[in-house]
Amino acid sequence: MKRVLSGMRPTGKLHLGHLVGALQNWVDFQDKYRCYYCIVDWHAMMSEYADPSMLKEYIVEMALDWYAVGIDFNKSVVFIQSEVPEHAELHLALSMITPVSWLERNPTYKEQMREIKNKDLSTYAFLGYPVLQAADILIYNAHYVPVGEDQAPHLELTREIARRFNYFYGEVFVIPEMILTPVPKILGTDGRKMSKSYNNYIGLTEDPSSIEEKVLTMMTDTRRMRRTDPGVPEDCPVFYLHKAFNRSPEEIAEVSQGCRTASIGCIDCKKILLKHLLPTLEPFRIRRSEYENKREEIVEMLHDGARKAREFASVMIQKVKEAMKIAW
Ligand code: TRP
Ligand code: SF4
Repeated sequence: MKRVLSGMRPTGKLHLGHLVGALQNWVDFQDKYRCYYCIVDWHAMMSEYADPSMLKEYIVEMALDWYAVGIDFNKSVVFIQSEVPEHAELHLALSMITPVSWLERNPTYKEQMREIKNKDLSTYAFLGYPVLQAADILIYNAHYVPVGEDQAPHLELTREIARRFNYFYGEVFVIPEMILTPVPKILGTDGRKMSKSYNNYIGLTEDPSSIEEKVLTMMTDTRRMRRTDPGVPEDCPVFYLHKAFNRSPEEIAEVSQGCRTASIGCIDCKKILLKHLLPTLEPFRIRRSEYENKREEIVEMLHDGARKAREFASVMIQKVKEAMKIAW
């Protein structure tokens, strides 16, 4: 069976954007591939090093939500990055051969250095972010890496690092392929990209009453000031949610037409959305409640995952050291 690896930084509870952008695919891949799903706490540390006090709580919250949406901890290997020290060891090995110039011209790095002003990201580790990501992938010799478009530069760097290693030391690594998840756009309640840091998100395992309130007060197309003003659904964050969660193409067409002709109001439109959204999310909340008050058990499952991950990773690191002529 071919291997898949993907990772997510622990940011706490997940939202609709995570589901549609990534987790739905992760769940589906479990039947087709040997899947490794990694909570990348060292990657989080690279930007949160000044105050990592929330990290462990975020890890558990995220693991609970992974479980809730159907990540199967028996079928897949689900674990915390820092519990598999081979990631760090391979990161060191790969850093021997990674030219600094490759890292300095990484567009994600340049953008974050420009945009993020409230944290000092001018560290040695942060420049090497993609080297650790390459190690995450290559330590399992993963064939496929399902990620969003924003990760394309990192994946390309991983492939270049793997090729360079193979060139120096022989064919150790599979050159991993990126599986681009076609992401239907998910906007937040304020019309910006849905994100925890904007506080405009709808949680995957939130209470139905809270989801209902967020949807009913969600921003709509600003053209629809009055009930009689027609709108443009393509400019409305509610309509993006219809496209992602409304199972009936006829109903989506009706909503779209109704919006354009002002034959339905925004509240009607939102209620139709809720009729699809709430039942889709309900099973997640129920599954999450199984472990909500038994967090030690989820943590134990993550420790087990790390043990399974190490079975593969320890063999791989030995091969790497042999190839580099430092194995005894
Ligand atoms: N950089 C990824 C992100 O921000 C997270 C990540 C770390 C990752 N290691 C990975 C993704 C390995 C895929 C494979 O989303
Ligand atoms: Fe948005 Fe629906 Fe209102 Fe149109 S009718 S603006 S799609 S909420």
